[in-house]
This record gives sequence, structure tokens and C-alpha cells, in this order.
Amino acid sequence: MRVVRSVAAMQRIALGWRGKGRVGLVPTMGFLHEGHLQLVRAARRQSRFVVVSIFVNPIQFGPKEDFRRYPRDFARDRRLLASAGADVIFYPSVEEMYPAGFATFVDVERLGDGLCGKSRPGHFRGVATVVAKLFNIVLPEIAVFGAKDAQQAFVIRRMARDLCFHTRIVIMPTAREKDGLAMSSRNVYLTPEQRAEAPVLHRSLLLARRLIVQGERRAARVKAAMRRMVRRESGGRIDYVEMVDTDELRPVKTIKGEVLVALAVHFGKTRLIDNTIVRA
Ligand code: PAJ
Repeated sequence: MRVVRSVAAMQRIALGWRGKGRVGLVPTMGFLHEGHLQLVRAARRQSRFVVVSIFVNPIQFGPKEDFRRYPRDFARDRRLLASAGADVIFYPSVEEMYPAGFATFVDVERLGDGLCGKSRPGHFRGVATVVAKLFNIVLPEIAVFGAKDAQQAFVIRRMARDLCFHTRIVIMPTAREKDGLAMSSRNVYLTPEQRAEAPVLHRSLLLARRLIVQGERRAARVKAAMRRMVRRESGGRIDYVEMVDTDELRPVKTIKGEVLVALAVHFGKTRLIDNTIVRA
């Protein structure tokens, strides 16, 4: 396994792979957990060459967000990726990805505005921009993303389609702890009390699913029941509880077809998200 720190070297390797087999890319911000490793294993199964990028992307963090204190542990990530079977870790510096004079951004309209986009303006522009760069640097036939960040996966899928990238977007299910909490690099921020309460996000999604299966079609009723559960069973502060269609991510009033049920809850300074797709 090689660690590559420059864009030019990564592009040279990618061009050398051309015609020799499929290239799979797993973009990450590091501090890897089992959820990330499942994506790497999926890429491993589907490609000849696997690149995992580790880059804490400053332009997707808001001015008051946790860019500086985002957890980092490259030595550990490197060991985990060696055993998961990655061929290359692409690990650029901020200056390498955003040299002086950088001025070009990718903006996927509408899809990035609601849900997490509301409280994180500019976030998905930062994500789409860095992922477009990674696609041009690594030239992957497939790129693997997690359903945990559903809005991100939908934004990237639309970007790849709209800009004619030759990369197929693969979305893998959310990896969870035994108590249902979605794995996240940010879970390390939680105090023991907050950690004990955090599975309420997942429980509220199970409640939504149950209500819909039992025949409830009014989104407002389902969202209200979820909010009540989060308030009753935790000290978390709700950012949003939302139900949207899976095409344009627009809020639905009446549940029909496929809907994405998603929520974000603050526990102190830590913001947790989770979601599920339900077919009515
Ligand atoms: P990061 O949060 O490190 O996540 C990297 C990938 O792992 C994303 O596709 C994310 O959806 C996936 N992932 C995270 N937790 C998961 C879980 N519990 N189960 C399954 N997949 C999970 O998302 C980012 O980094 C960045 O925004 C990035 C795409 C790298 C662009 O900077």
C-alpha cells in the first residue's frame, strides 16, 4: 500500500492503471471506523485498484464548525487501510488541494439547500467541489459512499450525472453500533451521558417506519411523533426532523412512494444525523 501526497503523483498512478482494471475510490476525512471500512471492502470487491482518500476538507466546514478540532489519526487509519486491502491512500495537504488562486466551485442546485444544507450553508458546495477534484485526480470507475450521509450521496450522484463523470456512484448501508447509533467519527465528541442518549435518533426512525407501515400517510404526524420521542428520551436539541422525496429532496406532506426520513440533533456542541428510506 502506498501513501501519495501530491496530486501530480496520484494522477500519474491513475493514468498508469488505465486499461488494466477497474479503479474504485472511497473518499473520507479519516479517523476511520467500521462504517468507512465497509465502504473500502465494497470497493475492494468491485475493483482491481482501490484508492482511499483522507482529506479533512476545509471548504465544507462553516466558520463556526469543527474543522480545526476534527479528529485525526493518520497512523491508525493507515494500519486499518492496509488490512482492509487498499492499494493507495491519497493524503494531500490543504495547500495541495487548494493552492493560492483557487477559484472554481461545483454547486448542485436545490438538492443541497434543505435538510443539512439549511443549518450548514455552503456545505454541499464544498463537498461537491472536493469530490469533483478527487474524481479528476483518481479517475475512478466507481466511487463508494455511505447512506449515513444520504443527502451527500444524492448530491454527488446528481453531480456525477449532470457533469458526465464516468464514475458510477455506489451507496452502502449505514453501519451502526449494537445499540443502533450510526457510526461516525464525531461520536468521540460525546460525553458518556450524551452517548447513552444518542441512539434515540435511530429509535425515532424505527418509530417513523412503524407508523408508516401501520398506514399513517400524514408526514406532519410522523414528524411530530419523532420530535416527541427525541425530546422525551434525550436532552438533545433538534435541528430538523424531515421527510422528503428521494428525487429532489423536497419535503412531502403526504407519504407515498419512496421517502427519505432524516433528522439532525445537537448534543452539546456535537451535531448527529441519521436517516432511513421508507417505501409506502
Ligand atoms: P466522512 O465523514 O469521513 O465519511 C466518508 C464516507 O463514509 C462517506 O461516504 C460517509 O457517508 C461514509 N460513512 C460515514 N459513516 C458511515 C456509517 N456509519 N456507515 C456507512 N457509511 C458511513 O463524508 C465525508 O467524509 C466527506 O464529506 C467527503 C465525502 C469525504 C468529502 O469531503
